[in-house]
Amino acid sequence: MPRILTIVGARPQFVKAAALSRALKKYELEEIMVHTGQHFDENMADIFFRQMEIPEPKYNLGIHSLSHGAMTGRMLEELEKVMQTEKPDAVVVFGDTNSTLAGALAAAKLHIPVAHVEAGLRSFNMKMPEEINRIVTDRISSWLFCPTDTAVRNLLSEGYGNFHVRVENIGDVMYDVALFYSRISEKFATQFNGLKNRERLTVLATFHRQENTDNLKCLQNIVDALNVLNNEFSIVLPLHPRTKKILERENISLNFDPVDPVGYFDMIELLKNCTFVITDSGGLQKEAFFFKKQCLIIRDETEWTELVDLGYNYLVGADKEKILEKADAMRYSRMKFQEKPYGEGNAAEKIALILKEI
Ligand code: UD1
Repeated sequence: MPRILTIVGARPQFVKAAALSRALKKYELEEIMVHTGQHFDENMADIFFRQMEIPEPKYNLGIHSLSHGAMTGRMLEELEKVMQTEKPDAVVVFGDTNSTLAGALAAAKLHIPVAHVEAGLRSFNMKMPEEINRIVTDRISSWLFCPTDTAVRNLLSEGYGNFHVRVENIGDVMYDVALFYSRISEKFATQFNGLKNRERLTVLATFHRQENTDNLKCLQNIVDALNVLNNEFSIVLPLHPRTKKILERENISLNFDPVDPVGYFDMIELLKNCTFVITDSGGLQKEAFFFKKQCLIIRDETEWTELVDLGYNYLVGADKEKILEKADAMRYSRMKFQEKPYGEGNAAEKIALILKEI
């Protein structure tokens, strides 16, 4: 039975791991999960393991709240030790965080083949820490599991057709997850299962990207826009700890109460019942589409270009006027959401079957 070491660390990876763990179990591959500890509190980590029934990690490295270099370096050192002990047949990393990069680098140096889930995404913005993580991780991976045709094309244009690697569009594991949990979310959501009955239309908003939180002008513009929208909509803003810290430090105030980060079931209920989404999150801009909602992306570029090309999502940057102008249009939108750019909801099973061939 192939032994697969999976590495998680940040919130979006817990969600993706939920789908893969289930598929690995189904096809009888042994999984050893390592949690780097990058995200650590109840709302950002524990609730996902509990609600989504993700197996308990065999190792929790407890590495968090450090600068990028220190965090990645410490993870690299500790992951190497775990890999030397466990001697897995393959290492699976997800997405684009510091945990992804450290995991891929530790494995590649030990000549353990790496599978990258969500390979080939590019924002073409080298200032984003995530873009650096993606590019390096892809280059040292053996299996590049792409979520979209665009991601495959990105890799081919970077010369991956000439490398001894397997590049494949298997669909998006996040679509698998959304389909699976949407059937039970209403029952298990704890905060937002009564949303349908609200008097005002709901807007779901999140933001935490470094490019928005560390640039005070951008941060202020986003807050100003949300404060205006609050006159008309009920805004649900689950606040990321990074954003919370900076808003408090800079004395920038919202004229409504944000909420703590929510679990996945509440997120699904919010997505099902909101009017539209405003976010800088990579995951949420797609989840909006899965639940037939349009999304304003408060960034200048996106890795998920298909939804912009299809007219569902808009890139509005951290520009107050653009956010307000497009928000106005969203209210009356009647789009059909018929396309299927993210596969059939069986991406994790495809990955498990490919890894079973080892
Ligand atoms: C990370 C990922 C990003 C991903 C995001 C999802 C990198 C470079 N970035 O960004 O790609 O979209 O996660 O959320 O890896 N904190 C807490 N409690 C927690 C987790 C974090 O208080 O449970 C605090 C940390 O101490 C830190 C801040 O939040 O001060 C930011 O956390 P960090 O892990 O650096 O990255 P994210 O901004 O979450």
